[in-house]
Amino acid sequence: MLDLPGKIKSLIGEEKYLIDDVGMSDSSVFLFHDKVLKIQTISEESQNEYHVMEWLQDKLPVPKILGFERDEKKSYLLMTKAHGEASCSDKYLQNPEQLTVMLAEGLQMLWKVDISNCPFICDLEKKLQMAKYTVENNLVDMDDVEPGTFGENGFKNPDHLLEWLNNNKPEEELVLSHGDFCLPNIFLANGKVSGYIDLGKTGISDKWQDIALCYRSLLHNFDGKYTGKQYQGFNVDMLFEKLEIEPNWDKIRYYILLDELF
Ligand SMILES: Nc1ncnc2c1ncn2[C@@H]1O[C@H](COP(=O)(O)OP(=O)(O)OP(=O)(O)O)[C@@H](O)[C@H]1O
Ligand SMILES: [Mg+2]
Repeated sequence: MLDLPGKIKSLIGEEKYLIDDVGMSDSSVFLFHDKVLKIQTISEESQNEYHVMEWLQDKLPVPKILGFERDEKKSYLLMTKAHGEASCSDKYLQNPEQLTVMLAEGLQMLWKVDISNCPFICDLEKKLQMAKYTVENNLVDMDDVEPGTFGENGFKNPDHLLEWLNNNKPEEELVLSHGDFCLPNIFLANGKVSGYIDLGKTGISDKWQDIALCYRSLLHNFDGKYTGKQYQGFNVDMLFEKLEIEPNWDKIRYYILLDELF
């Protein structure tokens, strides 16, 4: 059995688990029958995830917190398992119309949350500070970037990209932003969002942050980048038609570039 703090251990008992290997961060995720345990190195993001999840309990479909413990190095978040399936599952990728409707609603639900008393700030200033840290500490994963970001017709290196981002900050339209609105982080059931998970970067931010990553994630889940399997029938217009807004490509590009540094 895992070496866990007493309280978490007693909540789990002897239950069997599966290890989830979707995530790309340093966290470990253990899937139980109806619970999930996420163990992370303590960081601003792991703390934020717990506090935001608590704040959102009665506001949005997020997992219920069953337990939270910390030791010197790690945090242990025990939560309920989201119902349904992640929006990158085969079933949804085979139905682009239905998928984009649900994701557009998922974005709009976030924007409807009243942020006047929201204590979590993840705006551009904050993100650029975080990006400065990752760049200065050589933490940018150069194997996980969009083709063309760096190299001959792109930026020389992460420093160069960060400088450009600092010099080209867009106006922000502040809303509650998920912060990593990628398909594996949005669970769907019964035709709607059943769980927003992975809330380390959730807080007040520009609405185009989530639109940009949602767009990028749709594109790559359909073009087979992650699984090798391509799906047909998605085009970009579908998302913006459902959102009833015109795409702002400068902002979309900006936030995709910013995400290269995380
Ligand atoms: N409450 C939950 N309910 C259902 N599945 C979950 C839950 N929490 C995590 N998972 C599963 O574990 C995966 C990894 O969890 P999560 O996204 O929180 O971790 P991460 O390591 O921060 O991932 P990332 O690579 O996106 O940073 C999710 O994509 C999902 O499949
Ligand atoms: Mg995730």
